[in-house]
Amino acid sequence: MFPTQEILDRAAKVLIGNYARQPVVMVRGHGSDLYDGDGRHYIDLFAGFGGAILGHCHPAMIDAAGAQMRRLWHVGNTFHNEPQVELAERLNRHAFAGQAFFCHSGLEANEAACKLARLRGQQFSPKRWKIISLAHSFHGRSLAMISATGNPAIQQGFEPMVPGFIHVEAGSIEALQSAVDDETAGILMEPIQGEGGVLEHSPQYVQQVRQLCDERGLALIFDEVWTGCGRTGRWFGYQWFAADRGAVEPDMMTLGKSLGGGLPVGALYAKPQIAALLTPGKHGCTLGGNAICMAVAKTIFDVIDRDRLTDRAAQLGQHAIERLRSESSIGDKVRQVRGSGLMLGVELNEPPEKFIERALANGIVVNLTAQKVVRLAPALTIGADQWDRGLDALVRTIAGE
Ligand SMILES: Cc1ncc(COP(=O)(O)O)c(C=O)c1O
Repeated sequence: MFPTQEILDRAAKVLIGNYARQPVVMVRGHGSDLYDGDGRHYIDLFAGFGGAILGHCHPAMIDAAGAQMRRLWHVGNTFHNEPQVELAERLNRHAFAGQAFFCHSGLEANEAACKLARLRGQQFSPKRWKIISLAHSFHGRSLAMISATGNPAIQQGFEPMVPGFIHVEAGSIEALQSAVDDETAGILMEPIQGEGGVLEHSPQYVQQVRQLCDERGLALIFDEVWTGCGRTGRWFGYQWFAADRGAVEPDMMTLGKSLGGGLPVGALYAKPQIAALLTPGKHGCTLGGNAICMAVAKTIFDVIDRDRLTDRAAQLGQHAIERLRSESSIGDKVRQVRGSGLMLGVELNEPPEKFIERALANGIVVNLTAQKVVRLAPALTIGADQWDRGLDALVRTIAGE
């Protein structure tokens, strides 16, 4: 028999208890199927906070990792390695023309972006160093990034915050305009606020933000850690705002989560003119851009491209939105179904009781954020039948089963 309880007991002794963990030990995964040590099967509708964008154990990723592992693991960034170049070339192919710095996580990517915004701000007089971000945002857990994060609960107990991070309400261009002063270096925002509850912006608002940045000479940084790499049905979340008045491109974007498909990869990606300021000695990351992670990340781009997975995300997401909106058995429980592609939120009327536990008992892995928003972010490779079976179980769970 699998020793679940013994592992939980050992974990309680040796692991810091900073995560609210379920008493479940996951031991195996394949695509969107997950299995715990007791042999229970789950449909993975959250892909490890969106990281496992191609699901578990994708053969192309295994092959890429294996081939690279037999060739070269890691050299310091005082040398070149080709997989880094190849991944950055893929970013250029699918986003705006830019240059990349690779690290391990979303927060590190955001740190690098804010440092670069300050470097750019040094060129002005008076010097610009403040970053404006939005209420209900999430940008990571370092001291600077909890300072950037617009959620007091994340900051509590770690005061004082790093100075220079200012928060305004999302959706109000007037609030942003009045927060900008002579010392403002940039605006940091998520194209869709993930942890805040899958909160979308209107294209008009984002266009106004871009215009404000142009008028006031501010750097616009899109935190695409959640929305990047195909999750929303386009390659990057900002590409949804390109509709009527031409492209709304950021000056920098940050990536994490799905960029590595479950391996620790983050990136700052910046327009060349800004990127040029990050000269030798200004920033770095020992294992950032290591050859194995890069080879896998580059392969993820190729698989998404080859299998047209952005289109697939858009179709599967639209299907789920329509289904969940028309499901009469949960009509009185659901306030709104929203999101884009396979980044979806189902806002309930009331915070549910033991939702995650019940979802697991019903055979699905989902997430609950902002007290009453159920989040879905499966792998883009999830089978259509499997997606429907997962949605069946979700409906039962929302209904109270
Ligand atoms: C929008 C956003 N930015 C940054 C982060 C931080 O990423 P990481 O946990 O990789 O540091 C997260 C994590 O959830 C996120 O959702």
